Parts: sequence; C-alpha cells; structure tokens
Amino acid sequence: MYNKPNIITFAVMKQKVKRKKKPYKMQKITVIGAGNVGATCANVIAHKDLAKEVVLLDVKEGIAEGKALDIWQTAAINHFNTRVTGVTNDYLKTKGSGIIVITSGIPRKPGMSRDDLIKTNANIVKDVTEKAIKYSPDAIIIVVSNPLDVMTYAAYKASNKSSKKVFGMAGTLDTGRYRAFIANALHVTPIDIHAMLLGGHGDTMVPLPRYTSINGIPITQLLGKDEIDKIVERTKKGGGELVNLMGTSAWYAPGAAAAQLVEAIVDDQKKIVPLCAYLSGEYGLKDVFLGVPVKLGKDGIEEIIEIDLDKDEKKLLETSANSVKSVMKVLDDMNLFD
Ligand code: NAI
Ligand code: 2OP
Repeated sequence: MYNKPNIITFAVMKQKVKRKKKPYKMQKITVIGAGNVGATCANVIAHKDLAKEVVLLDVKEGIAEGKALDIWQTAAINHFNTRVTGVTNDYLKTKGSGIIVITSGIPRKPGMSRDDLIKTNANIVKDVTEKAIKYSPDAIIIVVSNPLDVMTYAAYKASNKSSKKVFGMAGTLDTGRYRAFIANALHVTPIDIHAMLLGGHGDTMVPLPRYTSINGIPITQLLGKDEIDKIVERTKKGGGELVNLMGTSAWYAPGAAAAQLVEAIVDDQKKIVPLCAYLSGEYGLKDVFLGVPVKLGKDGIEEIIEIDLDKDEKKLLETSANSVKSVMKVLDDMNLFD
C-alpha cells in the first residue's frame, strides 16, 4: 500500500538531496581534444564530480558537443552533477578554468614511434596552449599529447608559466600498466601494488622493481628475476602492444590516468605520483622534462622527490634523459618559440 510521505519523510529526503550536491572546489576544468583520450578523461572527471563544469573542446565541428552531451546524459544514471559542455574551438567558453588537460593531436599508428608525431603535434600543442591560457592565465596545464615529454616542453614554452604548473601525464599510466601485469602474474588485486617508475614516456622508461611492493612486501620476494624482467619489458612496450592490437593508441587507461592527476590537484591530495616534470639539477639532470616522483597538490608540483638509485638505475635514467633531450632538440630546431 502506498503511504503518503509525511513532513519528516520530506525533511529526510531534502537532506539527502542536499548532501548529494558536492560543494565544488573547482569551477571549471577544460579538456582540449575530444578524441579517445580527451573524451575518456572528461568522462572520468565528470563521474568523479571533480568540478562544477568540464568543458571539452575540439577543432572538429560538433564532435566535442556530441561527446559532451552523451557524457552528460549519463549523469542521472551514474549520479554526478558536473556539467559537461562541448565546444568547437570556442576558447571563450573555457574562460576561468583551474586546470587545462591537453590531449589534442594525432595518435600513433602501427609502426609509428611517438617521436614521429613531433612536428604535427608540436604545432597543435603550441596553438592550443596559447589560446587556452589567454582565457585561463592561472590554470595548471597537464599535457597528454605525444611525444609526451617533448609536448610538455612545448606547452611550457608556449605558456611561459612556472614549470611547477606545467607537466605531463605518463607515469600514472605506465605504473598502471606495470601494476596490472604484476597483478596478473601474482593473482592479486592491482590496488595493493605500489610502484614507482622514472624516465621518458617511451621505450627508455625505467620501471623500478626495487621500489615495487605489494602492501609492503617487496616484489623481489614474490617473483623471480626473469619474471620481473619480462614484466618490466612488457611495461616499456605497453603502449605499442595496444597500438598493435587496436590500430590506434589506448584511451581508457590514459584518460583515467590524466583524470587521477586532476583529482590530486582538485582535492589538494599531496599525492606522490610519477609525472613528467622539468628538472633543474634533480637526479643530476638539467634542462629536461622527464618522469620523476613528485608531490602533487592544489598548486601543482610542490616538490620533486629524489629517491636513491643504484648504479644501473642511474645509468638507465641518464639514457632516458638523453633520448628525451635529443627530441627536445628537434623541437628547439623547429624555432617555434622565437
Ligand atoms: P584522437 O585522434 O582520438 O583525438 C585527438 C583529438 O584532437 C581529435 O579529436 C582532433 O580533432 C583533436 N585536435 C587536433 N588538433 C586540434 C586542435 N588544434 N585543437 C583542438 N583539438 C584538436 O587521439 P587520442 O587517442 O585521443 O590521443 C590524443 C593524444 O594523446 C595523442 O597525441 C596520443 O599519442 C596521446 N596519448 C598519450 C598518452 C600518454 O600517456 N601521455 C597515452 C595515450 C595517448
Ligand atoms: C600509450 O602509451 C601511445 O603513449 C601512448 O598508450
């Protein structure tokens, strides 16, 4: 039998509705590029209710509007309030963003290295950075476009901002892959696996088994050297494995990984994560954007954390830094920022 709600039931219902609405710590987040990674990132940001509004922008007519509308239509189903807006190249709509995630560019095709992408994507990243910061001068910029380390350098140059506020997402994704492979090998939950990884986002990245544990138990006590080596190699080629399977690069994990950095900033988490940061002497390296552990909070990178490395790890990191530097030089030689 239907019972008419009384005044107390109404009061309880009202309270519940009130409690569901989050007092947003951030008004607006912009994601540039509404392709596979950008749309996934916006979707995760919205699902986590991280801002009052997430703006998805693309140069292709209608694509951002369509994907934003599609995501917004999941709000009632998945219980979030973050408004999702899509725009075609209209930067005015991005005005006042606290964070700008750059995913615009072309992705890798089979047989292509990330570095092959440099010329096209450098021009795109420069263009979108300049346009975006005109309307959101205080925004923190998270770069996702590849080749990641050098595109982060391009956004840094184009934005003229402190390097604490311009960085690249790669380590969260690469450690996500590494942890997934370890979880498979040990039949354990990936959530309990803690891992660190250094270097560029490419085949020279440096996963660190010495800094990998499962709820405090070093991975070296649970897996043999051969098995760990295989996992490390698979992680390094993790992006390529997916390109070969799908004919284009991955998006679910990359989009979620970028959204995790957004969450750490919005919630001022002081989260220790590996990301692509500008080094000015840390690890004995200078003038290079490279993956290192940082403390991430509301103002961006609060601290670059220098962990102890043995001789072999140092060597691998130097090799990775040299590889990134050589691509940074390609960018410098393009004279885009003169
Ligand atoms: P996609 O092709 O699906 O999407 C790229 C979008 O950028 C397209 O919708 C395109 O119209 C848009 N775009 C191009 N020029 C633009 C401009 N000037 N302004 C605004 N939008 C523009 O590619 P996907 O898969 O989303 O990948 C995006 C980028 O992210 C690629 O460079 C890819 O290599 C990189 N990536 C990086 C990862 C990382 O770990 N850092 C992981 C996965 C992908
Ligand atoms: C990835 O690692 C291709 O960078 C892209 O999936």
